[in-house]
Order: sequence, then C-alpha cells, then structure tokens
Amino acid sequence: MKAESLKYKENIRPLLGGLLELTGLDVNYFKGIENTLFYKNEEGKEVEVSDFLGGYGSCLFGHNHPKLKKIAIQNLEDDGAFGAQASVRGKAAELAERINHKLNSEFDKHYRTFFSNSGAEAVELALKHAAFSYQEKLKRTVLFPQIQINTIVSLSERAKSLLHIEQHENVIYSEILNKKICEHNDAIFKQKAIFMAIEGAFHGKTNAALSVTYSKQFKSGFNDLDEETLFIPMENNLRSKEIENYYHWYFHQANVNGKIRIELKKISRIACLLIEPIQGEGGINQVNKNLAAEWQQTCISLQIPLIVDEIQCGMGRTGTFLYSSKLGLRPDYLLMGKSLGGGLAKIGSCSISNQYYLHGFCMKHSSTFAEDDFCSEIAIGALDLAEDEEIISKIKIRGQFLKNALESIQIKYPEIISEIRGEGLMLGVAFNREINVASNTLYFLQETNMLGYCIAGYLLRTHRIRVAPALGKNSVLRLEPSYLVSNTEIERLAKAIEDICVILKQNSIKKLLDNLIETKYSGLNGYEIQFDRRMDKTVSDNKAAFIGHFIAPSDMALWDPFLQGLEQSDYSKLLQKISPAKAPVVYNRINVKGNNSQLELLFIGLPVCSDQMYEAMKGNKKEEMKLLIENAVDLAISEGCNVVGLGGYTSILTRNAKDLLNKKIFLTTGNSLTVGTALDALLNDAGKQDISIINSTAAVVGANGNIGQVISKLLAEKVVKLILIGRKNSTSGIVKLKEEIECDLKKRGIDIPIIEVTDDLFNLQKAQIIAAASNSPIPLIFPEMLGNKPTVICDISVPGDVDISVVSMKHNVRIIRGGIISSEKNKNFYIPGIPLEKGNLFACMSETILMGLEGLSKHFSIGEITVEQVKEIQKIAVKHGFILATSKVASSY
Ligand code: F0G
Repeated sequence: MKAESLKYKENIRPLLGGLLELTGLDVNYFKGIENTLFYKNEEGKEVEVSDFLGGYGSCLFGHNHPKLKKIAIQNLEDDGAFGAQASVRGKAAELAERINHKLNSEFDKHYRTFFSNSGAEAVELALKHAAFSYQEKLKRTVLFPQIQINTIVSLSERAKSLLHIEQHENVIYSEILNKKICEHNDAIFKQKAIFMAIEGAFHGKTNAALSVTYSKQFKSGFNDLDEETLFIPMENNLRSKEIENYYHWYFHQANVNGKIRIELKKISRIACLLIEPIQGEGGINQVNKNLAAEWQQTCISLQIPLIVDEIQCGMGRTGTFLYSSKLGLRPDYLLMGKSLGGGLAKIGSCSISNQYYLHGFCMKHSSTFAEDDFCSEIAIGALDLAEDEEIISKIKIRGQFLKNALESIQIKYPEIISEIRGEGLMLGVAFNREINVASNTLYFLQETNMLGYCIAGYLLRTHRIRVAPALGKNSVLRLEPSYLVSNTEIERLAKAIEDICVILKQNSIKKLLDNLIETKYSGLNGYEIQFDRRMDKTVSDNKAAFIGHFIAPSDMALWDPFLQGLEQSDYSKLLQKISPAKAPVVYNRINVKGNNSQLELLFIGLPVCSDQMYEAMKGNKKEEMKLLIENAVDLAISEGCNVVGLGGYTSILTRNAKDLLNKKIFLTTGNSLTVGTALDALLNDAGKQDISIINSTAAVVGANGNIGQVISKLLAEKVVKLILIGRKNSTSGIVKLKEEIECDLKKRGIDIPIIEVTDDLFNLQKAQIIAAASNSPIPLIFPEMLGNKPTVICDISVPGDVDISVVSMKHNVRIIRGGIISSEKNKNFYIPGIPLEKGNLFACMSETILMGLEGLSKHFSIGEITVEQVKEIQKIAVKHGFILATSKVASSY
C-alpha cells in the first residue's frame, strides 16, 4: 500500500481510506492545472487525470486559474491583512456590493450579504436567520391579552371550544381565563420553527445543514436530525391540507363594536422553504418552471422566505449566472459557495432580501475567518469570470457537446443508462437502479452503494478520468468539469462511459475490479456465462431468512461464476478488500414448498469466509463481526421475515443466538436438526458398512458438551454399549450423564446399554460408531486410537476432532461430517455459492425453513439444545418431506 494512503487511512479516515483502496481511488493529487489533476504513480511518474468531478463542482473555472492565482499571489506579496476582525472589511464589502448589485439586477430586490467559510455554513446562516425572523414574527403577531379582570368579553366558537367554555358568548374575563390564554400563547414561543425542504435535497453536513438534507445515510445515528424538517416531494407542491397541519392557533384580542372579543387565529409553524434549483447530490434533478412558481407562491401565501441554495448550481455552472433566473424564481435568501471561491478560496455567501433582513441579526452571527480580504478578493475575481460572456458561452457550448455525447450512449444502452440529466456543465448520468446484473459481485456492489465508486475507480485507472457518484444517489454519476474541458477530453469521457456500459452488460466484474485482482482478466467472457442469480417471484408472504457466509474464499466462484478462473489467493484478496463494506445483502429469494404450506426463503449473504469469522472471534474484531450479523438480522426483520436462521459461524459468534434475543424475530441456530441428521447419517453410513448397530459399541467424544450430551442420549437408545469420553480428569459430569441416561431409559422401558465413562481416547479402539463433538481447537483423534474393524466417525465439531492423518492411515475408517437433507418437493432447490447438489440443503438451513413452513412461534435451538427439540424438529422434517440425503465426506459448516 502506498505510504500516503496508509497515513491517511490510519490518521484521518480508516473506513473511507479502505473504501478508496477498494475502488482504486486512493491516489494523492498534488497538482491541478485547468481541467487536469496530477498524481504520481508507484514508479513516481506523473499521471494526468481529466477532472470531470471539478472539486465537487467548485472548480468551474478550472484548477489554479491564472487570473485568480495572480490575485492570490498579489495579496500575499502586498502583505494583505488577514486577521483583521472587528474592523471595516474592505474587500468583503466590495464583494458584497458586487453580489447585491448582481442579485438586484436579476431579481429586482435589494439584498444584504453575509459571508461564511463553507457552503454548509452559508446554509447555517440562512436557517439561523429564518429561525430568528420566525421568532420575531411570532413576537409581532402572537400578543398577550391586555384585558382588565372582570370585564365582560365575547368569545368566538373556536376560542370557547379550546377553553372548554360552554356558556353563551359573553363571559367575565377572570384571572383563570387570563392564565389559560397566556399559557397557551406562551407555549407557542417555546416550540422550534419547522423548516421545509425538498425530498432528495443536499445542503451540507453540519448539524443544521444535515437537518434539511434528505438522505438518511448521513443522518442516521444522530438523534432525529430531521425532526423539525418537513420534506416535500420534488414532483408536487405542498397540498393546502398538509399545510393545515402546520399551523399554530393562538388567542387574539380584537375590538368589535367597542366590545373586547377573544378569537383564535392561525400562524404557520413553518419558518422557510429551502430549495436547490438543480439538486446536485440528490442526483442532478432539475426543478421545473411550474413547480418553481408554485413553491414561490406557497412562500408568499405563508409569508415565509424562499431560500434558494445555488451553492452548487450557481456562479454560471449551468450557463446562466443563477439557475433561479431561468426558473423565474425571486429568492428571498440566495446562497452561493463552491465556485464563488474560484477553486482557490473557501467562501460561501448568504444574501438576504431587505424584506426579510432583520437588523439585530448581524450582531448575532460572526466567524473568525469570514470576510477576510484574501478570500473576498479571489471571489471578486471569480465573479468577474462568472460574468464574462465568453466563459458563459463556453460553458453552454461544452455542456451541450458533453450532453449530446452522453445521450448518444444512452440511446445505445438504454438498459444500462436510464437518463442524462442536467444543464450546462452540471450533468448526471443516471444508471438504471435495477440493471439486471447476473454477477453476484456486481449485485453486491450495487446493493451496498459501491458500484458508482468502483466505476469511478475503473475510469481513473483505465481512462485517467475523474468522476464520482452523487453523494445522496449513488446510481448517478455527476459530471461537473470546468469550462476549460476540451472536446477531446469529452470524447474520451464518452468512450469511457461506453466502456462501462459494456462491462455492466457483460458482467465483466474481473475487468471492473482489476485493481483488486492481480490475475489480468482473460478467458471467460461475460456473455458466455449463463447464470441465474435466483430471485423467485414472491408467491407467499410467509418469509424466513437464512444468514450464511462463504466457507472458503474460493466458494466465491460458485456464488458468482463471473469470478471463475482466478488464483486462489485472488479470492482471499477480494474478500479482504471488500471488508470495509461488509454489508449484508439479500442475494436470493427462493420459494420452498412443504406439506400444505409454502414459504419464501431469503438468503442473506455476508461477504466473509469462515477463516475471517474465526479470526474475528479470537481477535479484537469480534464486535465488528457481531454488528454485521445484527445488521443481517435487522435486514431480515425489515424484509418481513418471521424466522431467521444463523448459518456457519454466525451462530457461534452470537453465543448460539443468545446475543440476539432482543430482536423481534424468531431465531434458530439450526443445531437440533444438525445433530439429529448427523446422527442419522452416522447410523445410516454404519449400516452401509455392514456394522450391526444394535450389537455394536458406540463412542461419543466430548460427551459432556451440550451437543455431546444430546448425541449420547440419542445413541443410548440404539446400541448395546456406549463409551462416553470426556476431558482428562473431568469426567464427573459424564458420570451424572450416565446416571441420567440410565434412569430415563429405565423409566421409558427401553433396554439400557452398558455405559462406560472414561477420559482415555484409546478406548475408541473398541468402537465402530463414533460421534466426535468436542470443542477442542486442535485434533484429538489419531490413527493409533482407532481399531481395525470397519468404523464410521461423524465429526460434528468445528474445527474437526479427527486428525487428517486418519484419512491416509486408517482405510477401515470413514469420516463423515454432518448431515444433508433432501427435499422431494423442492427438487430444484439450490443457492448459488453453497456447494450442494440441486434439491439438497444443509440441516441448519432446513431447520429455518421448517420453522417457517410449520409456522412455529418460538425460538429453536437457542443456547443449549435438548433431545426433545431434536426429536420435535425431526418429526416436522418428516412431515414436510425433508429427509436425510447422502452424508458429506468432507468439511462443511
Ligand atoms: N449546498 C449544496 C447544494 C451543496 O451541493 C453542498 C455541498 C453544500 C450546500 C454544502 O457545501 O460542502 O461547502 O459545506 N456539496 C458537496 C458535494 C458536498 O458533494 O457536492 P460545503
């Protein structure tokens, strides 16, 4: 890994750093000229990158525009005053005058302009002013009654009903009445103002700006940031009925024909409407002219300010100085930022019309760095550029050329690109949210909102083009180059986008992720692979989910055949790299039939393998992995599942699901059926080896563990002799177990076998049927411990109890692991990635399905399991036609 990349990841943003690495966006740009950014590759060579992201839209005038650079240098050479707060800020005043003048000519209104250090801070200024002026409006409007006690007053019907007064109109104004009225009016002042914003809006990431930003992605985890915000759809105006819900009713004193009358009046609780004329981060969504007019009208009728955020789309970016002018809007507050700083300075502005501006406000807001000469001077220079007709015309021409080029690709690949949106040099390539990708890896990237970043990474590595998805809508690539972008660059970009379309169409995942996978993609062409990801159509609202993960990294090729042909190490590398985005995803929806019932099984996959889980369990990443499992359970709940099964290590990591009991869903580890079928498989296999079960000796290794105990109890019903083996010098628990078994069998009138309790594994020599269920981390059973007669061992423990040398040295011994279920009614059942034949299922997954088919309203196999549970689930299995299939002579979950 590159040194800077590591430093960034370790010292600033571990997760983002990981994501940049995953996508190959982890380069360090050290220089920018016009529309080009430069980084040094691993050999130290400069690489030129065409910048279509344009500093998140802040570099409309390119990087280091010579005129702006000159202003900056001149300011430094002249020893310009920087830290001169609380004095007359000359350059800021000049800039404000320029902006006010410009806005006046656009909207025929007079403004005052405040400065900030960022866009979000300009939004903060606007919201703060709106809240302040809302309070002032309340103070002017909601007055407290000045009525002499004992005066006769009349009450309107509404007032009477609110005050619970049933008498006729005239009442004596009492102290109690006065108190009630004052308290009611006072409570109105204590409530916060409501901001109104638009669905899809992005206004920045400080607390205030986030509260009016729509995307939950950025807000989750921060105490209901949008509690005070009313989001209205982009498609229609707020209906008057909805507005009705946002009024305060206050008591008002009027003079009617010389008599005092108390009535109720309403005042809107909404303080402002905040809009972006073109949503940038929301995915380049343009407001249409009619809607703009309606919004403006709403503000007028509610007497609230219309705040227009042109931080991204203003300063000429769309081919007009402000997009508001094109829409016919007349903003009450107008916000700018990004390109106002000319790509060199950090500055934002909030201009407030005189109609709304409150004089006290300027004493209530300040910032150390705002209004400085350095940034103000650069912004004045940027304004010059934004008003330069030649530049504006270039923006229009290049923008149209870019749009045409993109549209011709969209026409060619409509199944991949749904739309090209935007205006001037603010364009969006909207990918179909539901591109029918066959590759599971592509699906994973799509579902975890990483596809856009992977595409950006690919375009950077392969085409030397810089783009990024919109922050709030990852399926849209936004393009905001500078006006200096050349036609050649645009043609290159168009080719690159076409390349992406082909990759997505062909599921060429190896090509897209070539930075992660060393093997250069070759051989298999996406077109040649027929692969069905399996998403059955929903036929039942009875749903269950099963959470699984890869056993070995190479199983990825089964899960996604488009990954076939990689080196073993590549699969591991891929899994490791995916780790910053280990999100659970529903990969398959499979309809399963039982006896008279059916169910939709959702397979929720975690992009990790057994080894990673095992390492996490031992190391300090246990909590991280547990969170991933919890997220998967939450996903099952949000999908409406009644049951969730925990496959593989997910049950072990959650203490056999005990850690998940606070979740509102029925849980199972699948252990009961796993044990039941393992035992069936063991006896079945023994029968096939001509071992007479009733006459043989069976042994259980790890008999004092939960699973060992259950198996011992079940085996005791079947054989003449049973050897229970426990840990060295701790067999007292097993002696108790022996007594318990003997007592139980006697009660039930079943023949009691000879039961031997020991801690000596050499006793295994006497057994032909062995169940190994210890929780030893290292193998316990070695060749010399086993006899010479045909023997079957079912090794249930993870990691296994049987040493590998047994396989080569003891040809009379068969080792089987767990049982597999087959279902006649579900002959086509399979889940891509699970190495089983069609129609076969692992027992733990079957238990999940059976709980759903049977409609069991309880947890199953949580914590310690019992013989009763094993028998109960086996009975249900038989009822629904889920029977023991072949045993698996290899390791499984
Ligand atoms: N308003 C709009 C419309 C924006 O696009 C942004 C930022 C802001 C406000 C906040 O400005 O970042 O200077 O504090 N958009 C960025 C983007 C983050 O990705 O385009 P900031």
